[in-house]
Amino acid sequence: MTSGSAHELVLGIESSCDETAAALVRGGREVLSSVVHSQAAEHARYGGVVPEIAGRSHLAKILPVIDAALSGAAVTLDEVDAIAVTTRPGLIGSLLVGLSAAKALAWAKRKPLVGVHHIEAHVYSAAMERAETPWPCVALVVSGGHTALYRARSPLELERLASTRDDAAGEAFDKVAAILGLGYPGGPSVSRLAERGDPRRFAFPRFRAKDGSLGFSFSGLKTAVLYHVRGQDATRATPAPEEIPDREHVAASFEAAVVDVLVEETLRAARRERARIVLVAGGVACNRRLRVEMTARAGDAGIEAVFPSPAYCTDNAVMIAGLGWEHLRAGRIAGLAADALSS
Ligand code: KG4
Ligand code: ZN
Repeated sequence: MTSGSAHELVLGIESSCDETAAALVRGGREVLSSVVHSQAAEHARYGGVVPEIAGRSHLAKILPVIDAALSGAAVTLDEVDAIAVTTRPGLIGSLLVGLSAAKALAWAKRKPLVGVHHIEAHVYSAAMERAETPWPCVALVVSGGHTALYRARSPLELERLASTRDDAAGEAFDKVAAILGLGYPGGPSVSRLAERGDPRRFAFPRFRAKDGSLGFSFSGLKTAVLYHVRGQDATRATPAPEEIPDREHVAASFEAAVVDVLVEETLRAARRERARIVLVAGGVACNRRLRVEMTARAGDAGIEAVFPSPAYCTDNAVMIAGLGWEHLRAGRIAGLAADALSS
């Protein structure tokens, strides 16, 4: 580590999905400010993110959010050493809003521009708050758009070990929330209901690949919940939420199945890789049951499970500024020709 660069101040900008966020972070870990504008209310009645609405909302919020982050940190753009922005993956129209704003500021103020991979930034969010660096380790990123395991040699060297064959875990939460008549986003509403339920009441399926390879699948589980609620007759309508019997037990049993699979596959990967540390990040890492089960079962295997604070599990710009600082130190500057990529 070169001491000259250890305190560089990075402005992070995130707009890949339905959160417009900006943050100021010094030295990759000292958070001076973090502002997140969530569009959840604007997408709620559609039960998922509508790309056109997302793009327009980012456009309306991006500059006020950046301004709020700068004034929250009591700094001016002139004092910033670099601007880091999510370039991939995400909704292209959303990514372009953040990237264009970042390019304009970088050009106007002659600051280096750094392009950050959203998934790598989620992984970094778990590392940022730990006193010592966790590398090399295994990382689980579990969000609304992604569920995958990585071998992480360093913040900038991630190799995917396995991913979901169908739905992401967060997506399964969102769909089961809809089946149970709960609000969007589904993760928080399902887990709130699950707290009153018995996780062992219903034995929902846990996916495991027949050939023993690592991986996830949640569509069978989601269908099992649907059939449980509606019955086997596909022509029948799903009952009204208040008429679903044992709703809290369905929620708890579903959540237990998701958590079981996430913990099991992560620890299998950790054992294979002989990793002593697993980082768990992304929106679903907010889930209390996942945090408790992963920590306990990893602990039994002599493995440390590291989670970000809940505020940094869901999309935020602290993780973008944090990983942006690592790029900056490694000399990875994007330049004004940087492109946004959906995948
Ligand atoms: O990381 P994130 O903010 O956005 C993506 O990059 O996808 O993750 C959002 C996802 C949503 O699917 C939401 O339902 C889920 O994270 N989520 C949760 C919880 N809080 C958010 N899932 C389970 N339990 C939670 N407490
Ligand atoms: Zn995310």
